[in-house]
Amino acid sequence: MINVSLKNVTKEYRKKIVLNNINLTIESHSLNIILGKSGAGKSTLLNLIGLLDNPTHGEIIIKDNEIKGLNSNQISDLRMNHIGFVFQSFYLNPKLKAYENVMIPMYINNIYKNEDLEKKAKSLLKIFDLEEKFDHLSNELSGGEQQRVAIARAIANNPSIIIADEPTGNLDKENEELVLNLFKKLSKEGKSVIIVTHNEYLTKYADNVFYLSDGNLEEVR
Ligand SMILES: Nc1ncnc2c1ncn2[C@@H]1O[C@H](COP(=O)(O)OP(=O)(O)O)[C@@H](O)[C@H]1O
Ligand SMILES: [Mg+2]
Repeated sequence: MINVSLKNVTKEYRKKIVLNNINLTIESHSLNIILGKSGAGKSTLLNLIGLLDNPTHGEIIIKDNEIKGLNSNQISDLRMNHIGFVFQSFYLNPKLKAYENVMIPMYINNIYKNEDLEKKAKSLLKIFDLEEKFDHLSNELSGGEQQRVAIARAIANNPSIIIADEPTGNLDKENEELVLNLFKKLSKEGKSVIIVTHNEYLTKYADNVFYLSDGNLEEVR
């Protein structure tokens, strides 16, 4: 099943072309790595796929929905239901406990009963071996633990697409491996995982590898 499709997508910032006529198809059950140097346009590309920004030209299709024809409420719904975000700097709410951070997307989504949220959040953290850290604030968690909480939060609404921007940029080797193995597991369960990074080492986990440079995206594996 195709979850993401970009057709002839161009992105310009003030006449500067960052993405030049990009085509990309992402299937379910796949872990995709997009490599590129700093400034190549990786975050720009991920923000388009994540519906946080609009292309200058071209089409973005998420789960059979052409984005161009949608209003902002429909786009928010699509994002909330189908896309989970993971960032390099985790972006956990520092005032909330680990399980409360995981509850947020489910709370906003409004499809779960309030009394089920805490249970669901804790069961997600348990999958990631964080049962002893339920009540911890982010400053009481290691980088690797924070990123696992962030991944639990990203998958709380059971999205079919998980996108991650340099998710291991702030992690040591051991936690990098742990996080990539989690992404691998999620892709095996059927999700489309898309990771952008400058770290070529991560390609060993990938089903598909793309290289972004000079505005062009090339499939290299
Ligand atoms: N909002 C913006 N306005 C203007 N230029 C931008 C904006 N966002 C990114 N850029 C430029 O687009 C290029 C690609 O940036 P980015 O996608 O962040 O690259 P990467 O994530 O690969 O490091 C850079 O030259 C950057 O300066
Ligand atoms: Mg970036």
